[in-house]
Amino acid sequence: MEVIKSTEEIESLNFNSPFALVPTMGNLHEGHLSLVKYGIENYSEVIVSIYINPLQFGKNEDFSTYPKTISQDIQLLETLGCNYLFIPEKNFAENLEIIEPKFSDVLCGLSRPFHFHGVLTIINKFLRIIKPNACLFGLKDYQQQLIIKEFVKRKKIKTDIVSLPIVREKSGLAMSSRNNYLSDEDKKFCGKIYSCLKNLAASLKKKPLGVLKIEAINFLQHAGFEIDYLEIVDANNLSSVTKKTNKILIAVAAIYKKVRLIDNIVVSL
Ligand code: PAF
Repeated sequence: MEVIKSTEEIESLNFNSPFALVPTMGNLHEGHLSLVKYGIENYSEVIVSIYINPLQFGKNEDFSTYPKTISQDIQLLETLGCNYLFIPEKNFAENLEIIEPKFSDVLCGLSRPFHFHGVLTIINKFLRIIKPNACLFGLKDYQQQLIIKEFVKRKKIKTDIVSLPIVREKSGLAMSSRNNYLSDEDKKFCGKIYSCLKNLAASLKKKPLGVLKIEAINFLQHAGFEIDYLEIVDANNLSSVTKKTNKILIAVAAIYKKVRLIDNIVVSL
């Protein structure tokens, strides 16, 4: 695997088409690796980027303590057969025009007001300098991939945005770098978030959505989670469910021992 550390160098490379980019902030886990594996199976070459993007962290968030495991990440990528690793310069996010996202005033965007502006601004830079045929994202960050898909379509950027299934721990907890802040016992316990989403999904036709939402919130609060949000919305645009809705998103952000965990389920009607 070739490790590239400058923007100039990555811009000057000619990749074998079709090639895929997997943007990450490092501390790679099975969720990221599933994207890399998908890239290797479906494209001629795969580039992984590792960049802890300062633009997407709020003032009181974990930018400075975000887990960094670069040598381990390199080893994992080498083992999988990834072609390129791009580790941009520290100033990669400087002097960029901030991009306005759509669909960012709900769910995670409410408690993290400029998070998606930061994500979209850095992804736009990656897409413009690397010009991949495809860019791969995990569905755990459902809102993130929806926002990026909408932007790429609106700006007619010629990169397919491919969204791939959530990878889970044995307990059902969605894989995330922030799970590193939890003990094994905590991770097992936090499997309750997914059980709660599954129960809610199974009851969608049985009770009004408002009732299901309150029951799910009560269940998680009783179990010991602090709820940032739990919402049942139209998966196509994150607005309220209507008669026209054909796909429902049940999304949650719950805090356990100060660790913010997100998860979701999509149900086609
Ligand atoms: O999902 C992430 O890890 C980040 O938001 C991303 C897409 C790498 C942008 O910094």
